[in-house]
Amino acid sequence: MSSPAASATSTAASAASTNSVLEKLGLLLVAIVVLRFTRAAMQFIYRHVLGPSALCRGSVDFAKCGKWAVVTGATDGLGKAYARQLAGRGMDVVLISRTQSKLDATADEIRAEYPGREVRCVRADFSDEDTGLVYGHVGRELHGLEVGVLVNNVGLSYPYPEYFLKAAEDQCDNGNKATAGLGPKLFDDMVRCNITSMIHMCRLVMPGMADRRKGCVINIGSSTSEIPCPLLTVYGATKKFVEKFSRELNTEYGGSGKNGFNITVQCVMPGYVATKMSKINRTSWLVPSPDKFVRSALQTTGLEPVTQGYMPHTLMVKAIALAESISKSMMSRMVLNNMLSIRARVLRTQAKKQKEAFALTQDPIESAVDN
Ligand SMILES: NC(=O)c1ccc[n+]([C@@H]2O[C@H](COP(=O)([O-])OP(=O)(O)OC[C@H]3O[C@@H](n4cnc5c(N)ncnc54)[C@H](OP(=O)(O)O)[C@@H]3O)[C@@H](O)[C@H]2O)c1
Repeated sequence: MSSPAASATSTAASAASTNSVLEKLGLLLVAIVVLRFTRAAMQFIYRHVLGPSALCRGSVDFAKCGKWAVVTGATDGLGKAYARQLAGRGMDVVLISRTQSKLDATADEIRAEYPGREVRCVRADFSDEDTGLVYGHVGRELHGLEVGVLVNNVGLSYPYPEYFLKAAEDQCDNGNKATAGLGPKLFDDMVRCNITSMIHMCRLVMPGMADRRKGCVINIGSSTSEIPCPLLTVYGATKKFVEKFSRELNTEYGGSGKNGFNITVQCVMPGYVATKMSKINRTSWLVPSPDKFVRSALQTTGLEPVTQGYMPHTLMVKAIALAESISKSMMSRMVLNNMLSIRARVLRTQAKKQKEAFALTQDPIESAVDN
């Protein structure tokens, strides 16, 4: 039998050895955290400061990719800003969207701003059910052009945040004109604009890039694919497709060297930008103008395959991810409440407009008697 003194000594020794193991584990954990933090900080500095600077020139030289840039949804917002800025970087541009007058006006603007540049317009509606007809036409218009850059920008969202089932209701059946823009067709149009167009435009344009072993495809997603977006459910889900599609395409075609195609495929996932789609007119640090956003996003092409494209949007997404790591459900509820208050505001305005329109259609004498 061991003496009490010996047993105390052995207990102390085993406690000391446990402590030393815990100490080592603690140190290892701290080292891992410090390493991960340093790596993230260095990546951040390279991608946002050093890479785009003249010192590194890490981002893509677009004019070297080919003569033409093709931009879908090119007459407003982000698409127009991409078209103008790519022209500014020495590319001729093909503008694609639905309205001929807007196409002509945008083409004139770009020609006036960059006199040496050639601009072509293609009228196409990406929500058209007849995809064979749409992409047959676009394919013929692009035939023979050396396309170096493709910006898949066209996108469709909800007119305002709405519950999935309510948004899917047939608006003609309930005769409610106030909710125009919703209905089952909206979801089909959204899939055709946000997903189908991207697949077909890549199918049409990328073979030329693959043959020449150079090119750049920029797919516009949305930060709604990364953060909660209840009441914009179908939109957010289509944008998740954009992210996945771009990541895998970049792996397939991004590599350089003997077996690589050297095509940069980037997914840009903005937060709010002041455009017609967001219905935000006033710009701020967090809601940039399309020009400011695109200037920042173009500097990340070639450096970040998947990006918010604009530092304040990156910080916003990171802050939401941090809050979600504390409680995912709390964050989702907070966003839902925010969406519900936007929805309530829009519905109130619509009801007011409907009431005013109804009053105007009433016989003025009858209305006066009623009053
Ligand atoms: N604005 C934001 O806050 C925000 C945030 C995240 C992501 N995004 C994404 O950024 C992209 C651009 O959005 P934006 O805000 O710049 O939009 P926008 O200002 O509404 O511009 C849309 C452009 O697309 C064209 N277009 C619309 N429907 C079309 C169709 N069916 N077929 C062909 N062209 C069509 C429009 O011209 P026509 O009407 O003449 O066809 C216009 O040129 C979208 O993919 C959107 O999801 C925007």
